[in-house]
Amino acid sequence: MNDTKIWGLGLGPGDPDLITVKSLKILQQVDVIAYPAPLEGDSLTRTIAAPHLRGDQAEIAIRVPMVVERYPAQEIYDGAALEIADHVRQGKSVAILCEGDPFFYGSFMYLFSRLAEEFEIDVVPGVSSLAASAAGLGMPLSERNEVVTVIPAPLDEAEIEARLKATEVAAIMKVGRHFKKVKRVLDRLGLTVHAGYIERATMKEQRILDLTEMADDEAIYFSMIIVRRDGGDQR
Ligand SMILES: C[S@@+](CC[C@H](N)C(=O)[O-])C[C@H]1O[C@@H](n2cnc3c(N)ncnc32)[C@H](O)[C@@H]1O
Repeated sequence: MNDTKIWGLGLGPGDPDLITVKSLKILQQVDVIAYPAPLEGDSLTRTIAAPHLRGDQAEIAIRVPMVVERYPAQEIYDGAALEIADHVRQGKSVAILCEGDPFFYGSFMYLFSRLAEEFEIDVVPGVSSLAASAAGLGMPLSERNEVVTVIPAPLDEAEIEARLKATEVAAIMKVGRHFKKVKRVLDRLGLTVHAGYIERATMKEQRILDLTEMADDEAIYFSMIIVRRDGGDQR
C-alpha cells in the first residue's frame, strides 16, 4: 500500500472469487471497512467481502433506507463521510467497499464527492454487473463498432424506447418493479426474443429466466436484461 488512506474498492458482482488481487490485498490490510447496508439486515457488499476479512477490522455500516428510486440520502452520506474522515485524521486507513465497480452506478460516488477534496482517494476498479451479466447469459456485449447502451429501467417508457431504437446492444439495469414497462417496450420493438434476463449474476442464487414466461412482478432489483438487436449471431 502507498500513502493513500482511503480506497474505493470494487469487490465484483457477487462471487467472492471475482474480487481482484489488488482489492483483496487492500481489503486485508486496512484498519477500517465501510460499506452500504439496508436499514435492517445484512449488507450484500459486506457479504461479498466476508470470506476475505481478517476479523479484527473496525466497520462502518452505512445504513440507507432501500426506498425505491431513492435520491441520495444526503444526511446519511454526510454522517458517513464525517465518520470516515475522523478515522483517517487519526491515522487509520479506510476501504469503502463497493459492489461491482465503484464508478459504475455505485453509491460510492456520494462519499467520493464528499471526501475527495480533503483526502486522496484511490479507486480500485471491480468486475461490474455488466460484465458479469453478459458472461452469465453467454451474450457477447459488443463487437466491431457496435454501440452498447446502458439503460436504467426507472427511465420513462418513451425514453427507454428511444434509447433501444438507437442502439445495437442494450443493458437494462435496475429492472425490479419496472419489468412490466420494459417488457412492453421490448415486445413493441420485437426485441423480446433477443433479450436475456439474469438476476444475482455470479452469486449462488443466480437465476436466468425466460422473459416470455416471467410474471409482471417476478423481476428483482439485482437483475439485468441484455438485448442484442442481431439476436447474438456473430457469424
Ligand atoms: C446501484 S447499481 C450498482 C452497480 C455496480 N456498481 C456494478 O458495478 O455492477 C445496482 C444495479 O446493478 C445491477 N446489478 C448489480 N449486481 C448485479 C448482479 N450480480 N447481477 C445482475 N445485476 C446486478 C442491477 O441492475 C442493479 O439494479
